[in-house]
Amino acid sequence: MTEPNTLSSTGFSPSTAPVAVGPAGDPPSRPNTSARGERPNVLPSPGVFAMIRKLASFVSLVVAQNVGRQVLKRTPEPQAVTDEQANVLAYDQVMTTGLAIPYAIGLETIYRARQQPFGGRALDLACGPGHFSLLMARHLRLDHLLGLDLSRPMVETASKNANQLAMAAVRFEVGDITRLERFEDASFDLTTFCDAAHHFDSLGTVESIVAEMDRITRPEGLVFVMDLVRLRTKAITERYVRLVGADYHARGLGAFYEDFYHSMFAAWTAHEFRRVIPGRSRRMADGDESSIASISGMDSGLARGEHGNNSARAIARRWYHVVPKGLPALQMVVGVPFGQRGLRLRRGFPWPESDCPVPAHLRTDWSALRLSTW
Ligand SMILES: C[S@@+](CC[C@H](N)C(=O)[O-])C[C@H]1O[C@@H](n2cnc3c(N)ncnc32)[C@H](O)[C@@H]1O
Repeated sequence: MTEPNTLSSTGFSPSTAPVAVGPAGDPPSRPNTSARGERPNVLPSPGVFAMIRKLASFVSLVVAQNVGRQVLKRTPEPQAVTDEQANVLAYDQVMTTGLAIPYAIGLETIYRARQQPFGGRALDLACGPGHFSLLMARHLRLDHLLGLDLSRPMVETASKNANQLAMAAVRFEVGDITRLERFEDASFDLTTFCDAAHHFDSLGTVESIVAEMDRITRPEGLVFVMDLVRLRTKAITERYVRLVGADYHARGLGAFYEDFYHSMFAAWTAHEFRRVIPGRSRRMADGDESSIASISGMDSGLARGEHGNNSARAIARRWYHVVPKGLPALQMVVGVPFGQRGLRLRRGFPWPESDCPVPAHLRTDWSALRLSTW
């Protein structure tokens, strides 16, 4: 049964939302010594309480997500194209939010999986305000990147961001990513499509976009798709959104919180999303029909279910579906270069701390998601 999905049912509204954890939700600070100043106060600091609370919420979410079947049906995004000023402005702050964590995981995945980790020509589909595009351009030292989005205000914002960083190799254009015919076969080394598959009403459309990405990417290049995962129930989803989005309101990003809330209901489940992997692909050798490998505790069961008695290991590996274990905070579909077996050509995070794409306050959460993904 479809569960009703309204923002107000969470008890949140942009102006009145309570903040569960983070700066505004912390207990009031206490001095480090007792009232008379005689003995040091040995109670854990408020930050430790907040961290314990957050960890407890996280563990209970993991348990809830993993016991039982998928109940929550999909509710499409209220607006496929994001062009209202408030939403664009809020999205432009994305690098200060938890979404910087999937960006860093995606960036690292691309770095690990490409034949040539640096340089090349890239196309970023549904680029929004361009922050992931710019991360890729800088950290992968791309020779050229084109970002496309159907929202003019998003493209203007992305262009402004590129100018501010003086990134001449990057260009953003208004364009419909369901119409990629103008690009010739094999014209890019890397094509990416992040956090936008849930904006499309049909999985068939997403399938066609991924098939087109496969066509316009050189067989030795990489196709990379990343998105959110729809969770099992409405209650789990609302708890997750509160946990992840706890400090958005405190930082004036109410519109971003609302977008995130709707996106979680519009996202595809991991089971659904596997279908976007092309049945025939330029990354496959002749005779490789269903070359899907799956990485994650949660999803490998699905791989066995879909491929009879084959274990995921026995399947020729050209396309990967990666879902973190425990709580699926993201999912990635990766088409690796033709002839390459394995998603990981190189290991580890290659950028120095001074050039880390994750803001300092998100690094603990980032480490946890990295561990559960890799
Ligand atoms: C959630 S944003 C993702 C932005 C960016 N990729 C990121 O990861 O931050 C989704 C974007 O998809 C864009 N979009 C939706 N339908 C589109 C279409 N048919 N063609 C191009 N862009 C589209 C929206 O305008 C919006 O900017």
